[in-house]
Formats: sequence, C-alpha cells, structure tokens
Amino acid sequence: MRFEPLLAVLPALGVQGIRIIQSNDDGWAEQYVRTFHDALVASGHDVVLSAPAENKSGTSSLDVEPSARSSPCQYDSCSAGSGPIGRNATSPRLNWVNSFPVTAMRYGIDTIAPPFWNGQGPELAVSGPNVGSNLFLAVQFSGTVGAAAYAAKQEKIPAIAFSGASEGTLAWNTSPVPQRSLVYAQLANTLTNAVIASGKPYLPEDVFLNVNFPKVEGKCTQASQFKWVLSRINIGLFSEKDVEHCGSDRLPMESSVVDTDGCYISISVGDANDKTTAPAEKQAVVLKKLQKMLTCLP
Ligand SMILES: *[C@@H]1O[C@H](CO)[C@@H](O)[C@H](O)[C@H]1NC(C)=O
Ligand SMILES: *[C@@H]1O[C@H](CO)[C@@H](O)[C@H](O)[C@H]1NC(C)=O
Repeated sequence: MRFEPLLAVLPALGVQGIRIIQSNDDGWAEQYVRTFHDALVASGHDVVLSAPAENKSGTSSLDVEPSARSSPCQYDSCSAGSGPIGRNATSPRLNWVNSFPVTAMRYGIDTIAPPFWNGQGPELAVSGPNVGSNLFLAVQFSGTVGAAAYAAKQEKIPAIAFSGASEGTLAWNTSPVPQRSLVYAQLANTLTNAVIASGKPYLPEDVFLNVNFPKVEGKCTQASQFKWVLSRINIGLFSEKDVEHCGSDRLPMESSVVDTDGCYISISVGDANDKTTAPAEKQAVVLKKLQKMLTCLP
C-alpha cells in the first residue's frame, strides 16, 4: 500500500510491466533492495531478486560457483546448512545465491528467473540501491556496479546500478520502513520506469547507468525534492568530448553532482567493458531518452 501513488505511473506513461532481474551487493535481505523490489512490483513489473546470501560489498566482478551455506544467511534470513542457492518459501521470486554479486546476477539471469517467465530471460537488470555511494574510483570495486556491468556486457541486458549516500544497515523486515529506504526505492523506480518508457532498446549496447543518490536529510527528504543530472564517472581531462549538454561538451563528474547543494542525483553512462565513462555517441542516446527529466547544475 505504501506505493499506491506509483500504480498510476506506468499506464500514464503508456508502459507495460516488463521482466526485471534484480541483484545487489549488500545481500538479499538488506532492506534497500527489498523496498525497491516492492516499488517495482507495485508498478506492475515481474521482478525476480537474485542476490548474495550475505553482504559482499566491494567484490567488483568476482564470479565463483556458489557453495553450500554452513551458517545462516545475513539477519538470520536463511537457516544454517542450506544449499548453495535458496529462496523465500512463500515469496519464491526472492532468491539468494551463496556467492558474489556477479554470480548472483548470472544465476538469476540463466537459472533462477526463466522458470517464472516461460523460459524467457529478463528485459532489464537492476542492481541496488547500494548502501553507500559508488562514485568515481569506487565504481571499479563496487559489487553493485559489477553485477550491472556483467548483465550489460556478458548477457547483453540493459542494466542500471543504483547507490544511495545514506548509510546504515537495515534488515529486510525493519519496521517502520525508514524514509531513506522509501525515497531511494521511489527514485530508483522513477528512473527505471523512465528508461522503460523511452522504448527498446532501453540502453545502447555494452552500457550501464551508474546512478547515485545524495543523502536523504535536510532539504532532501521527499522524492519530489530531488533532481536528475547527466554526469560522467571519471575525470575527463584527456578524454574525448562528452555529449553537448547544458552549454558544455564536458559533463560534470558524478561526485561533484551529488556534492552540489540542492538534492542532485547523478546519472553516468558507463562503459560495461571497463566501468569508465561511455563515449559521447552513447551518452547522446541516453540524453535523448531522459532529456525531459534532466536538469543542469546551477
Ligand atoms: C519471506 O516472505 C514472506 C512473505 O511472503 C515475508 O513475510 C518474510 O519476511 C520473507 N522473509 C525473507 C527472509 O525474505
Ligand atoms: C557491507 O560490508 C562493508 C565492508 O565490507 C561495509 O562497509 C558495508 O556497510 C556493509 N553493508 C551492509 C549493508 O552491511
């Protein structure tokens, strides 16, 4: 019921619900990923979560076959002695994989999700929201980004990585749901639906979006107070020109976007091959798709 207002969004955009695979690196039972899951479902999407059994932050693109669990999953969300993968018995679209984020994404796409979808694969992959930012140099180490880059590069599925600056661990069943978890879920859902509404192909090939939300605090406590800015991951000193936008051929760095006073969210177009900024022609495709919601920094 929390997401009731969002139910109206998809039909208004002329969008049908789609098949979405979801992962993260903080673990399947972390609350940010679950609140986002609920928001996507409330929007009419068919979402399968396949995420690590415990916190695997900072594991980048590691991919190792899952092993049987000896101890309980994080927050006691599965029992000791469970197998290498498992699910919530009453909500079978919620799955854990006892390995790294990339492995969980891979199992989700290849093994766990297709039976829910008559053997079909996902149309979109989302990762996170991560507990904590993934900006600039951190992008290379982030498991949240690793899972999205894997989906885009190896599986050729358009992918979006979300991270939120407000930290603090929360079990999936923390009640009431804190405002930061709700706001990040709503914002991630808004961008996901905007990408879907822009039509297929949702993103250029071998591209992922790296999206960072600033902290939910002060003047930034409601989703409606946040603004979206097209950015780049790394410093552009010696790089080719970026897409022409906001009167410049150099996009702002994502870290300066989220540091700017005024609730600014960074959206960087990432190259799934090396997790750096994608070239201008790919940025231009994303700019055209999202133009209506983007603003310029002051
Ligand atoms: C499993 O799903 C049920 C709802 O079907 C929920 O009440 C429970 O908290 C979930 N547990 C985990 C660990 O996801
Ligand atoms: C996961 O572990 C990292 C350190 O490895 C820590 O910084 C982060 O806060 C943890 N996240 C959660 C959700 O427990």
